[in-house]
Amino acid sequence: MPFTNNRAFKRNPRMLAHAKDMHYFTPEGRAILDGTAGLWCSNAGHCRDKIVEAIRAEAAQLDFAPTFNVGHPRAFELATRLAAKFPDGMDKVFFANSGSEAVDSALKIALAYHRARGEGTRTRLIGRQRAYHGVGFGGLSVGGIASNRSAFVQLPGVDHLSHTLNIAESAFTRGQPAWGAHLAQELEGLVQLHGAENIAAVIVEPMAGSTGVIVPPVGYLSALREITRRHGILLIFDEVITAFGRLGAATASERLGVTPDLITVAKGLTNAAVPMGAVVSASWIYDTILGAAGDGIEFFHGYTYSAHPLAVAASLATLSVYEEEALFERAAGLEGHWEKAVHSLKGLPAVIDIRNLGLVAGIELESRPGAPGARATEVFHKCFDNGLLVRVTGDIIALSPPLIVSAAQIDEIVEKLATVLKSIA
Ligand SMILES: Cc1ncc(COP(=O)(O)O)c(C=O)c1O
Repeated sequence: MPFTNNRAFKRNPRMLAHAKDMHYFTPEGRAILDGTAGLWCSNAGHCRDKIVEAIRAEAAQLDFAPTFNVGHPRAFELATRLAAKFPDGMDKVFFANSGSEAVDSALKIALAYHRARGEGTRTRLIGRQRAYHGVGFGGLSVGGIASNRSAFVQLPGVDHLSHTLNIAESAFTRGQPAWGAHLAQELEGLVQLHGAENIAAVIVEPMAGSTGVIVPPVGYLSALREITRRHGILLIFDEVITAFGRLGAATASERLGVTPDLITVAKGLTNAAVPMGAVVSASWIYDTILGAAGDGIEFFHGYTYSAHPLAVAASLATLSVYEEEALFERAAGLEGHWEKAVHSLKGLPAVIDIRNLGLVAGIELESRPGAPGARATEVFHKCFDNGLLVRVTGDIIALSPPLIVSAAQIDEIVEKLATVLKSIA
């Protein structure tokens, strides 16, 4: 099982048999309120009729179509609809099947772009500590989680910026912390060290999710944008978690007012009903790669299942649900209630920080001496037993409910979590 204590799971399995809207149900029929949109991905809630029907219909009409040298119309329709939701000028879409594949595709696009411009020395990649960019060799190399990296070989020529979490400076900040923008200047140091002519791209999650909800300090992302632009370095936002309404807008880029050159997405792209990832690119990157190629294939990369018809159908229906129900606006409208509710957990045993942005919250617990992660794991188990799905990473509890969550369900999530936190030593 992925990222799981397999032996513990076998001793005490937790099974999910079906789902509807805000709830999972165990095989015994016990309802579990979904505080995590599955895995940050079912933004419109579960088993939505429109999406189910679209997948069903497409399975009967076009079960599969290769996208090497042939195409299918709905893939282009989806690319066009996506482009309209992303920042101006980000009009080209490359389809993959997961966040990890989207990240590796984006890194390759960055390298291909520089090579196409005759700057093939630009091969270095810069990530950030505590970043999660999936599990491909590219993603784990630019990622910043020791346990994901240390057992494996990594790409050469990768550096990491410092992460921006500082509990001593910013504990219990509501929204973006004031402290930390200066950390973007580390990029200048790396440019001095290696020379801009050797650096291809910087990749960051605009808000880091998987490593425990690290909200970008005010001014940090715009500083990264300014430095990358000045040195001809591409800026990639990994929006696998943050796109599709999670922060109350189509993208974190829109919410935070900083436009990168490439954006990776997955998860909410199809409401997670069928696996799909994508890279959304500035048109000039696409034009440069195509313009420099001779006659023939311009970009030697792709997946059998790129733009798989079922994923495309699921995504088109998902975008319609987001639009018809104005779910991104809904998330924005709920943010104030959400923030107040999650910050009411301040003062409960072992809670040392609470962070939030959009419909996301991270509640950090003090680790037990010699047993990092044990306290939050216990919270996870007890929440599950009490009918609430949360996500834990280290000793941080991450919450990210579907955007259809009601104010009453937000209160229910927080009450259930409070009850569990009070019961834990
Ligand atoms: C920011 C980010 N990038 C990439 C990934 C990897 O996505 P996947 O698990 O679909 O490969 C994730 C998954 O959580 C993520 O949060």
